Amino acid sequence: MSSLFPHLFEPITLGARTIRNRIVSSGHDTVLNDHGAIGDDLVAYHEARAQGGCGLIVLQVSGVHETARYTNHVLMATDDSSIPGYRAVAEAVHRHGATIFAQLFHPGREVMDGERGMAPRAVAPSDTPQERFKVVPEALSTEVIKEIIAGYASAAKRITDAGIDGVEIVASHGYLPIQFFNPRVNTRTDEYGGSPASRRRFLAEVVAGVRAAVGPDVVVGLRISGEEKTEDGLVATEILDLIEHLDSLECLDYFSITAGDSSTLQGAVHIVPSMQIDPAYAASLSEQVKKITDKPVMVAGRINQPHEAEKPSPRAAPTWRS
Ligand SMILES: Cc1cc2nc3c(=O)[nH]c(=O)nc-3n(C[C@H](O)[C@H](O)[C@H](O)COP(=O)(O)O)c2cc1C
Repeated sequence: MSSLFPHLFEPITLGARTIRNRIVSSGHDTVLNDHGAIGDDLVAYHEARAQGGCGLIVLQVSGVHETARYTNHVLMATDDSSIPGYRAVAEAVHRHGATIFAQLFHPGREVMDGERGMAPRAVAPSDTPQERFKVVPEALSTEVIKEIIAGYASAAKRITDAGIDGVEIVASHGYLPIQFFNPRVNTRTDEYGGSPASRRRFLAEVVAGVRAAVGPDVVVGLRISGEEKTEDGLVATEILDLIEHLDSLECLDYFSITAGDSSTLQGAVHIVPSMQIDPAYAASLSEQVKKITDKPVMVAGRINQPHEAEKPSPRAAPTWRS
């Protein structure tokens, strides 16, 4: 098998960890959580993937603050009761030689479930309505913004102290960090809104805070949509400028590229792209990211066969950046 797919089976180093091959199970909600924590079912699910030969497993999103409950079953990393679950899944995956990261998450206005059938309550940079789940969020106070940024750092520390090898900050799919960056969503006029420097402040503070909390021996990555593919969504040039800035902070070990945005049906199609979409279609976006960073770049989206993964990157569309 490895001689048929030499690139796919080549080890790769992300920050302080070398991963045995390039097969990644990207973060995906399994609904196997045990009341917001990792229980035996979720451990068994990921152990099976490690046993099957996967190089890297990225756990589904973990909430970093009480306001991050986007479904009624989301994993939460906000207190120490979550530690035994992270420890158990890390040990199970390590037994079979795979590496495991967890995703640090806040949905902002992308909240699906309300309590007992009520309309969902959500917080976001501004009260810009969300079309898909019909949410009108509450604009965040500066005090709660600071609390959420601290939540990313403390969740990262808790999770990695439990034995998880790295954390992936979720700025993809229109979730909170990227809501701050989008001028069509964030209409604040304080230090977290307005100029590009102010709109990227939230994510820059999250990235720096997480790195400071975990130190150099833990992997820290960023998941981001190369294009949001939705009406008010961020376009590729805007995203590329953001990545360039975040990379210059020297806190991130890798970028994980995807596409789409949760706020409309048009953008949300790309969270789980259907069989009508071309194989490896997001690779042209990750190819552009590779041109501006020396860090490893992952990509997901319709890479369903090993021969697709083995292919050299496609030529990037010339229109992505002027
Ligand atoms: C059921 C399901 C749940 C998902 N949950 C997450 C998640 O928790 N975090 C995330 O970053 N992506 C999530 N995704 C997106 C996947 O990581 C991936 O980007 C997407 O499935 C496209 O890759 P594929 O074509 O190989 O399936 C989810 C996808 C599915 C199908």
